[in-house]
Amino acid sequence: MAEQRRFAASAPRPLPAAPATPPGLGEEAWIEVVQRMDDIYADLVRHQVDLEEKNSALEDAQRFIDSVLSSMSDVLVVTDVHGRIQRANKAMVDLLGRSEQQLLGTELTALFAPQAAHTVAEFRKHVRGGDILDCEIEILGAGGEAVPLAVNCSPRYDSEGMLSGMVVSGRPLGELRRAYRALQEAHRQLKTTQQQLLQSEKMASLGRLVAGVAHELNNPISFVFGNMHTLQRYGERLRDYLALVQSGAAPELIAQARQTHRIDRILDDLVPLIAGSLEGAERVSEIVQNLRRFATPQRQKQRDFDLCRVVESSLAWVSKTVRAQAQIELDLPPELMVRSSEGHVQQILINLLQNAFDAMESVDPPRLNLRVSAQDGWAHVQVRDHGPGIAEDNLLRVFDPFFTTKPVGKGTGLGLYISYGLATEQCAGSLTVRNHPEGGAEFTLELPLETAHG
Ligand SMILES: Nc1ncnc2c1ncn2[C@@H]1O[C@H](COP(=O)(O)OP(=O)(O)OP(=O)(O)O)[C@@H](O)[C@H]1O
Ligand SMILES: [Mg+2]
Repeated sequence: MAEQRRFAASAPRPLPAAPATPPGLGEEAWIEVVQRMDDIYADLVRHQVDLEEKNSALEDAQRFIDSVLSSMSDVLVVTDVHGRIQRANKAMVDLLGRSEQQLLGTELTALFAPQAAHTVAEFRKHVRGGDILDCEIEILGAGGEAVPLAVNCSPRYDSEGMLSGMVVSGRPLGELRRAYRALQEAHRQLKTTQQQLLQSEKMASLGRLVAGVAHELNNPISFVFGNMHTLQRYGERLRDYLALVQSGAAPELIAQARQTHRIDRILDDLVPLIAGSLEGAERVSEIVQNLRRFATPQRQKQRDFDLCRVVESSLAWVSKTVRAQAQIELDLPPELMVRSSEGHVQQILINLLQNAFDAMESVDPPRLNLRVSAQDGWAHVQVRDHGPGIAEDNLLRVFDPFFTTKPVGKGTGLGLYISYGLATEQCAGSLTVRNHPEGGAEFTLELPLETAHG
């Protein structure tokens, strides 16, 4: 090649001096010969230039391939059909600690750990059927240590489409493994932090619950306490009075004692005092019952019952506690049989109605729409109030435990959480909420209709 270059670069050759005309060959013939030689020479120069250009393109291509191969971070080897190495890229050379020259002609299997050699030897057989993908094997690194690689192997064909060897590429898994381990550790730490957060949130929630319960219990208990103290004082006075009566004292003395001890007032007070105390005790017992139900929700039997009746009785219960006269628009069919657990449905409805009236505290008069309907095997109860509705951000949170916008002592934020659990888990239904387009909140309880008798 160098020879040809020199040839092309040389100055055009001067025309040979015309020899003396040999006998029998005219001057014209000589000129023709010289011109032919000139043409041939020009052809030669043209071919030479062509060759030069192709050669330079080839060298560019070669340099391009070399730069790609050497800048790859994945290792790459090219072998012949027998699995002998024909090329190895820089990453491979660095990993093995041997020069490419040393690797040329080496059996591919010799590069891998003994336990992987069998798999690599099989490459030759399998590669004819197509690519071998992501096979994890260990190669022997520069210090003889096993380096795990994710290896891919593809067949290589010559210009006639005949198998001429294999291209084996691999990605060292060390980095990936390290990254994976770091990720796992980060995930573990995150989970621990989350657990701690959850725990502290639970404790805070528990604190709020206890504060709420304490507040709720405080009222009836102080009521009962006050009554008991009065009863105790009344008891002492009654005992003194009875002792006087039994001692056979004069009637005037007894009458005077009756006045000073205010016995008649005591007798008048006894009934309401006892009734009030009993009511307080009942309230305490009710709160405890509710707490127990919250702690261990019991499964109730599913049975068929008239949903409209339960809606009406729930409304009657809640209305008792509402001071203002409410406008209630009822849209109920005469009867709608559903299959669910009646006690739980009632508990849900009471919670929804109580919330609706709470929301309409400053609405005068409070207005409520109650609708019961059936569609596609499901009964729907819609409870819509005319209060302020629920802020968009809170729509998803109202079913969270302890979510409340009410002051301490007024709400624990458990009503909807418990209702949602009861609707979905105990009543085989669902409970959803939305803001009504014309204002107010609308809760929909969905329950399965009564199953066909038979
Ligand atoms: N009809 C409604 N209109 C507006 N906001 C409502 C309505 N129903 C519920 N909410 C909002 O959802 C929150 C959670 O309701 P939830 O019944 O779970 O708890 P609570 O009523 O605050 O307390 P609890 O029911 O435990 O006494 C309420 O504090 C209120 O902010
Ligand atoms: Mg509530």
